[in-house]
Amino acid sequence: MAPSPRASSLSCVLLILALSVALAPAPASATGVFRVRRKFPRHGGVLGEAEEHLAALRRHDGRRHGRLLGAVDLPLGGVGLPTETGLYFTRIEIGAPPKGYYVQVDTGSDILWVNCIRCDGCPTRSGLGIELTQYDPAGSGSTVGCDQEFCVTNNGGVPPSTCSSESPCQFRITYGDGSSTTGFFVTDFLQYDQVSGNGQIAPSNASITFGCGAQLGGDLGSSNEALDGILGFGQSDSSMLSQLAAAGKVPKIFAHCLDTVNGGGIFAIGNVVQPKVQTTPLVPNMTHYNVNLKGISVGGATLQLPTSTFNTDESKGTIIDSGTTLAYLPDSVYKTLMAAVFNKYQDMAIHNYQDFLCFQFSGSVDDGFPVITFSFEGDLVLNVNPHDYLFQNGNDLYCVGFLNGGLQTKDGKDMVLLGDLVLSNKLVVYDLENQVIGWTDYNCSSSIKIKDDKTGSVYTVDAHNISTAWRFQWHESLILLLVTTIWSYLMF
Ligand SMILES: *[C@@H]1O[C@H](CO)[C@@H](O)[C@H](O)[C@H]1NC(C)=O
Ligand SMILES: *[C@@H]1O[C@H](CO)[C@@H](O)[C@H](O)[C@H]1NC(C)=O
Ligand SMILES: *[C@@H]1O[C@H](CO)[C@@H](O)[C@H](O)[C@H]1NC(C)=O
Ligand SMILES: *[C@@H]1O[C@H](CO)[C@@H](O)[C@H](O)[C@H]1NC(C)=O
Repeated sequence: MAPSPRASSLSCVLLILALSVALAPAPASATGVFRVRRKFPRHGGVLGEAEEHLAALRRHDGRRHGRLLGAVDLPLGGVGLPTETGLYFTRIEIGAPPKGYYVQVDTGSDILWVNCIRCDGCPTRSGLGIELTQYDPAGSGSTVGCDQEFCVTNNGGVPPSTCSSESPCQFRITYGDGSSTTGFFVTDFLQYDQVSGNGQIAPSNASITFGCGAQLGGDLGSSNEALDGILGFGQSDSSMLSQLAAAGKVPKIFAHCLDTVNGGGIFAIGNVVQPKVQTTPLVPNMTHYNVNLKGISVGGATLQLPTSTFNTDESKGTIIDSGTTLAYLPDSVYKTLMAAVFNKYQDMAIHNYQDFLCFQFSGSVDDGFPVITFSFEGDLVLNVNPHDYLFQNGNDLYCVGFLNGGLQTKDGKDMVLLGDLVLSNKLVVYDLENQVIGWTDYNCSSSIKIKDDKTGSVYTVDAHNISTAWRFQWHESLILLLVTTIWSYLMF
């Protein structure tokens, strides 16, 4: 579409969200400062530690699935602590004057919420080595009333039934184990940096509505991985991204690229033009990022699978979830897939360790094992290389990252849940404007190009070299410090 004369006069900027930088000072750079850190390392170190590492990954995913499925009302397992259920976190700044808050970056939930001052049952300490801060709305914030537009819109067009004059717009999120977060919505300034052209950064802000957590119910009080809240990149109109998009600050498109080898990464909002990605439609009206899986092949040979594998409804189908570490398959799919993967090694001794299949292997797994390919509607494929799906634990010990029916529920066992295991080392683009998701294999330590559709300007967004920053500031388990760059164009 040709830009209108007015539009073409608009300045094109990089918008950097919320600026984190808790650790070492950010390198002076025109591109990104929204840093996302990963809670778990991808690979275990020495044997013993490696076993504990696998167990930790498994526990993490169990908790997350309790929460993922909470939205679709299935019987659930998992501990359910909200901030234990994601992999990445960042620091955002809210208020005037601004204060920093550490939040989970989560594509599996919708709203931004932070623990509020005097919160009942909220964590006060975190094993992640960060200082927790409770948000005080009495500063520059204002409470959203239940009869206000935000509340009405997010309640399906009518005020909540309990709404009486002056009462706040409340939220309640129930997790897998029945524990919950309740609170109310407030509106306050989100602070971010705006970069126009190369190397020019200016502080800016937007008014957004988010949740103020007043009470954590159930077993949510203590956690090794406690954070101040969650930043949801789900699809709903109440998300931060939707609000910034509605205000004309950003397009409703975001992308991530997570490098598990070098630890680089990019998390960007904007229209990615390089690399190009092929896309598949999102299944409409789903809570999560559901896609239509069409087939699975191993080393080029298509697996014969029950047709129900490819159904799509709330309790079946395929979910793309970057907050899940591994990948989970229905029983029948898992067994057929593993048989094909180990077809060449009929006599290999395979041990079951905490639901993982583990085995001894010397030599290159990429030479010894087949590529697994998931095919989706629209001819989009997802190739998973042996070095991605086989975790090395100790010298010659490998474990398979695919797990059997990890959703722990009767119905959930029929779902395919694809997490970081298959999403890493790829640029993954969530184009919510066109309701598609796509990806391509990519070097996530390199750079991508993002285009301002209004002016046609194209900017390079670099991944950051993060290894020195975390190494001396952080406990070793916080391996990947990922850099997030938020791109946008300004309307005014
Ligand atoms: C928001 O940004 C505007 C324009 O830069 C500035 O004048 C204003 O003081 C900022 N407000 C806050 C609360 O930071
Ligand atoms: C999705 O939901 C909208 C609004 O409820 C409805 O109009 C539309 O038909 C639904 N689409 C599908 C494919 O179910
Ligand atoms: C990925 O990109 C980085 C930065 O450009 C480069 O140093 C590295 O060698 C690349 N890795 C591969 C495997 O090409
Ligand atoms: C990136 O980090 C590595 C490891 O600390 C270091 O050797 C390298 O020089 C760094 N590269 C740049 C461009 O800073």
